[in-house]
Amino acid sequence: MRNFSITLRPHGDELSCQERETVLAALLRNGYRVFYGCTGGGCGVCKMLLASGLVEHGRCSKAVLTDDERSRGYFLSCKATPVADLEIEIREINRLEKLEPVRKISCDSLE
Ligand code: FES
Repeated sequence: MRNFSITLRPHGDELSCQERETVLAALLRNGYRVFYGCTGGGCGVCKMLLASGLVEHGRCSKAVLTDDERSRGYFLSCKATPVADLEIEIREINRLEKLEPVRKISCDSLE
């Protein structure tokens, strides 16, 4: 199975995306929180802008991702899968946050 890299602009964070994994799934798996809705290509809430690279768009409504938007680099992160390494322009509307890793604490001290 092939892995692709996704670089988030302007932060510069880099994460991995597995072959046939959606960009949204890769973000969530790598500990990011991002704004999304239906996860079915129907609402457009997860729309992102590709700075470089190439995605397979998957099935999505032309009402929420027009041909003009596609040609300008927009894609729906819940449906799009990389076919090359990607650079994504993260915008305020994406509300991206990096979650802190879960810390394990010992229960031994709770006696
Ligand atoms: S979350 Fe609705 S189109 Fe992606």
